[in-house]
Amino acid sequence: MADARRPLISGNWKMNHNHFEAIQAVQKLAYVLNPADHDVVDVSVHPPFTDIRSVQTVIESDQMRLILGAQHCHFEEKGAFTGEVSPTMLAKLNVALVIVGHSERREVFGETDEEVRRKVAAVLANGMTPIFCCGETQEERVAGGTDDKVSGQVRAGLAGLSPQQVAGLVIAYEPIWAIGTGLTATPEDAQAACRVLRGVVADGWGRATADSVRIQYGGSVKPVNAPDMMVQPDIDGLLVGGASLDPDEFARIVAYHRLIG
Ligand code: PGA
Repeated sequence: MADARRPLISGNWKMNHNHFEAIQAVQKLAYVLNPADHDVVDVSVHPPFTDIRSVQTVIESDQMRLILGAQHCHFEEKGAFTGEVSPTMLAKLNVALVIVGHSERREVFGETDEEVRRKVAAVLANGMTPIFCCGETQEERVAGGTDDKVSGQVRAGLAGLSPQQVAGLVIAYEPIWAIGTGLTATPEDAQAACRVLRGVVADGWGRATADSVRIQYGGSVKPVNAPDMMVQPDIDGLLVGGASLDPDEFARIVAYHRLIG
């Protein structure tokens, strides 16, 4: 089962790189990745909205094997939602993966579990795959509330989905206190949380679904700590913020999979 889960390494650029910088970054990334990397791992980039069309054009015209992703979207297809971008618009640009419910969206922009649930459903309805994020704050961790928090987020965010839908999506466990702080969960703590998440999926959607769903770890991932995360049995990939802005550093995180064969 674990063998069937192809690793997914995702670069979340957040609000970095204008479209010129984005083109350069993706060209450099394609150059520094070893072609053999793509045989063993999926690699996605998640540029800001204003870069997506440019990055799509470069990926497609140069036939790069990078997967195009977005960082969020609205749940409605169109309408009076000033400033928002719809899943239909992203699908039209051949976006394949959409990060949904990132803690920065939840904390800074007030996204609720219900909004996240509607976004997950909308992304799926448009033929794309959500990367569904969950994670606990430092206070919740200290109080022993990690498992309850992330389990509750998964149950709320994936409510109403079929086993097939859940089996195909990606869950990212991102402890909020580890994002952008340089603090990483220990590989054992990350594994424990990812195991809990897989158990929640098994309880709600069955064992086969739980065995198929890919679970990423995110939070201050660097080339130095990525291998320790990736050897954990329930961690199938990484959601990388800061370190994905440097193509060399990001490629070193990806390369681990090829090197271990
Ligand atoms: P970080 O961000 O790698 O910079 O901690 C991870 C994320 O927010 O997805």
